Amino acid sequence: MGAVKAQAIYGYAFVTSHRFSSRGPLTGRIRVPGDKSISHRSLMFGALAVGRSRISGLLEGEDVLATAAALRAMGAKIEKDGDDWVVDGVGVGTLLQPQQALDMGNSGTSTRLLMGLVASHGITATFTGDASLSKRPMGRVIDPLSTMGASFTPSPGGTLPLVMQGLQPAVPISYRLPVASAQVKSAVLLAGLNTPGTTTVIEPVPTRDHTERMLRGFGVDVQVEEQDGERIIKLTGPCDLQPCDITVPGDPSSAAFFAVAASIVPDSDLVIENVGLNPTRDGIFRVLRQMGASIDYLDEREVGGEPVADLRVRYAQLKGIEVDPAIAPSMIDEFPVLFVAGALAEGATVTTGLEELRVKESDRLAAMAAALKLAGADIEERDDGLVIRGSGGKALPGGGPVTTHLDHRIAMSMAVAGLASEAGVEVDSTEPIATSFPNFTALLAEAAS
Ligand code: S3P
Repeated sequence: MGAVKAQAIYGYAFVTSHRFSSRGPLTGRIRVPGDKSISHRSLMFGALAVGRSRISGLLEGEDVLATAAALRAMGAKIEKDGDDWVVDGVGVGTLLQPQQALDMGNSGTSTRLLMGLVASHGITATFTGDASLSKRPMGRVIDPLSTMGASFTPSPGGTLPLVMQGLQPAVPISYRLPVASAQVKSAVLLAGLNTPGTTTVIEPVPTRDHTERMLRGFGVDVQVEEQDGERIIKLTGPCDLQPCDITVPGDPSSAAFFAVAASIVPDSDLVIENVGLNPTRDGIFRVLRQMGASIDYLDEREVGGEPVADLRVRYAQLKGIEVDPAIAPSMIDEFPVLFVAGALAEGATVTTGLEELRVKESDRLAAMAAALKLAGADIEERDDGLVIRGSGGKALPGGGPVTTHLDHRIAMSMAVAGLASEAGVEVDSTEPIATSFPNFTALLAEAAS
């Protein structure tokens, strides 16, 4: 797959750079790890149920392990049992005061959802994170959770590290999401679980609905209505959660890297097994198909209450399109790799309405524009998206090292670009990949060998 080199970057750590080069077609069958969003929620809801929940297919990435550690610090027992994980929950209303700061690592989902949980418990918690997470906006959860009664001692910009104190009983609110964010929606709903009365979230634009689906599986009466195109989600606390056995489907966000890789590397014919296809998450596959990708859904079925299929992806010459911004919430984490697909397509791929990408693990518009330019692609960065003039299937020149800014999805996207390049693409640091997809490099070697 390429050379590995240790170097000091980001001013504080030794990291390993890696050159990802063309290795021929991707073939055979692979299985990507469990869905990150569902894995976080499985642990959190298991911790809030009284009794034992069993989880199979949990993603054992650093982000999810940060959630597990924080829940343990608040009283839940979480252990690996063979290939499964078991959670002995403490119940809603009885989370314990953590004795140390909760280290959230790189994980925005852990931070924002756990802040929701703490908000309606009478405990104080300190949240810390790595350099990337410490730049990300927390005001979006601080605002509604403060209205519910939590108090925060944030740094002036509303970023980590911060100390929060929950209020028990908290005050129920009705909250219209100012940004399309499943994390903010979930934070408010999780705070509502231990809040007497009805907590309502109004979603003008639908975002991933795992919280609603999974809370129902844990026995919570979550009401969802549609009114004038908006989703209105309600629950009435305090709620009791029943323990539950969960099977986590494969993560479509992880599968996306392989779907793009197989689409752009000539002669590829790859089956990606067990991919979650929840309609609030499958936007990348819809857009790739619009671009002419050959993606077949085999053996469509349900796993853990989520639609799942095996994806057969064959090489196809992609065509640039204008991506409808309305689809963005259902593929919000997949734009970096879509940009790589655009770089190999015929004609221009135009994306708009993507301001949210600037506040992910990195500024993903700036990071991908810089990285793809360094690899020889023709990219124009605009305020709310990228315009990519594709190579028409010709391998990119390659180069690097490209800077990942501690962002796993930049690293994996540029690894995929390396597969369709002449000189390979050197990625400055592969460490962040472990946050969401620890066996990514091994699977890539397996598929492209
Ligand atoms: C997530 C929601 C999304 C996504 C993140 C996971 C979740 O974030 O980017 O990787 O599990 O709820 P936003 O809600 O900030 O869009």
